Amino acid sequence: MTFKKWMVTTSLVSSVLLLNACGQTSEEEPSPDETAQEEVNQNEESQTTEEPDDEDQIENDEDSNGSNASDNEDGEPSDSVDNGRPQLDLEEDVLEPASFSVLVNKQYSLPEDYVPDNLVTVEVPTVLPNPEIKQMRQVAADALKEMFDTAETSGIILHARSGYRSYQTQVQLFNNYVNNHGEEAANKYSARPGESEHQTGLVMDVTSESVGLQLTEEFGNTEEGTWVRDNAHEFGFIIRYLEGKEDITGYVFEPWHIRYLGPELATDVYESGLSYEEYLIDRGINIEI
Ligand code: DAL
Ligand code: ZN
Repeated sequence: MTFKKWMVTTSLVSSVLLLNACGQTSEEEPSPDETAQEEVNQNEESQTTEEPDDEDQIENDEDSNGSNASDNEDGEPSDSVDNGRPQLDLEEDVLEPASFSVLVNKQYSLPEDYVPDNLVTVEVPTVLPNPEIKQMRQVAADALKEMFDTAETSGIILHARSGYRSYQTQVQLFNNYVNNHGEEAANKYSARPGESEHQTGLVMDVTSESVGLQLTEEFGNTEEGTWVRDNAHEFGFIIRYLEGKEDITGYVFEPWHIRYLGPELATDVYESGLSYEEYLIDRGINIEI
């Protein structure tokens, strides 16, 4: 199979908004700009007053649902199993933006104009007011609700913070991160436009009150974070950016960023202990890392 990279235009427009990548506030991350916070707090329409320079500062975009006309979810991988492993047409699927198994990273990017079908507003508690980022593809939104409801039966209360992000939203986030913290830091925490899994509609950043509803590495040590780590695969999600895999995934550990792959594939990836990139290579897929 011939791999090709999706060509994207990554020209970065200057942002008038003050945004942050995933909003993580790990110890290594530069602290937020207080001036930015003040500016953010002045706009109650689109921003919360709790968050520093985060996706809560993304301008509300009432048109963000505009292109979701189809109800047909065609990204579902095969459910057949061979020797206990999912039989997936991974070589095709990892390059198909609408596939649940699509690979999106610094090497494999999405087209600028890719907008997933079937975006719906998630039916779980959310943190931020921006309607765009409350969305996921229908199948992922359903799985997220099932996961949150199941967690709640064990006394685990989760909150959804950032789901679908358009290419343009990611432009704003990445530019803001560069402006506030420099390009080197931005590249560790924030995906460039076209390179964010959030554009697939298959991702949600989740958090808990125990970490102030923030996206912080500390979430991974909370009971909510450990529950997500141990159970998300049963609902079809993996923690995409694992601790110790930074050199492969390209990003710091993000215990909050869960990516929908479907239960079979997610469970296989989870049980492998590998990053998604390593898993694909282990399955014989010839990807660049
Ligand atoms: N923080 C992840 C890498 C993103 O920006 O998509
Ligand atoms: Zn994320």
